[in-house]
Amino acid sequence: MNKLANYGNWVPLNLLYTILGIILIVLIPTLFPIFLVVRIILWIIVGLLLLPFSYLIYLYYQFSAHNKELQYKVWNLVIQKLPWNGRGKALDVGTGAGALAIELAKRFPECTVWGIDYWGKSWNYSKLKCEENAKLEGVENQVVFQKASASKLPYKDGEFDAIVSNFVYHEVRDIRDKKKLISESFRVLKKGGVFSLQDTLKNEKKYGNIEELIRDIKEWGVEEVNFIETAYEIPMPNLLKFELKTMGLLYGIK
Ligand SMILES: C[S@@+](CC[C@H](N)C(=O)[O-])C[C@H]1O[C@@H](n2cnc3c(N)ncnc32)[C@H](O)[C@@H]1O
Repeated sequence: MNKLANYGNWVPLNLLYTILGIILIVLIPTLFPIFLVVRIILWIIVGLLLLPFSYLIYLYYQFSAHNKELQYKVWNLVIQKLPWNGRGKALDVGTGAGALAIELAKRFPECTVWGIDYWGKSWNYSKLKCEENAKLEGVENQVVFQKASASKLPYKDGEFDAIVSNFVYHEVRDIRDKKKLISESFRVLKKGGVFSLQDTLKNEKKYGNIEELIRDIKEWGVEEVNFIETAYEIPMPNLLKFELKTMGLLYGIK
């Protein structure tokens, strides 16, 4: 990856600033003469907020480029498992700052890649950032970025030869049914097309049982579906494994 390209961090900075802001607001009254009980309660609140704040800072560090590019290893896994010859059109669902779309274009010079995202306020990602990154990586003629929702893709049935996605479906808020959301990605994949989709797929509250999900996907006419757990595929500290324990990758051929 080009060192000048900036693919951001999965821990949104806005979230860190918000928690830090709340901690400071709670701390301010403790600078004044207030009842001891109130002071203790405020310190307890600060203590409780410092726990998730410290963990998020740790995750931010782990996902930053300074740390041997763990994010890159996770993107790499998605592409490595994609059983593709690199000819035709690919789609990156929820492209963020364009990392997966651009990496696909670099590895497969014969393909064209579409990257879609709704580019909301949570992350510092944008269509412009994607286009800048594509230029820095020298693949601007191979990639197209479009604003769209993963829940209603603006493409015809079977339009793509390959589909990838990383860490997106759990974030999509404009549809409740996650299976319906995933089926929208399969709708635009052509018969015989390939896929590699990574997300918190072992979170049963969101996706139900993984075996059932795989059965459902096969019922949609998908020929080959494989599943692996991300945390066991990439070496990482146990504290990080804890965060990524529900993350898994579905890959195969429609
Ligand atoms: C954790 S980021 C991952 C970004 C990118 N795939 C990556 O691996 O760096 C989650 C992404 O999901 C996108 N997203 C959230 N809801 C979406 C929706 N309804 N449609 C498309 N993208 C969405 C966000 O804008 C954000 O870019």
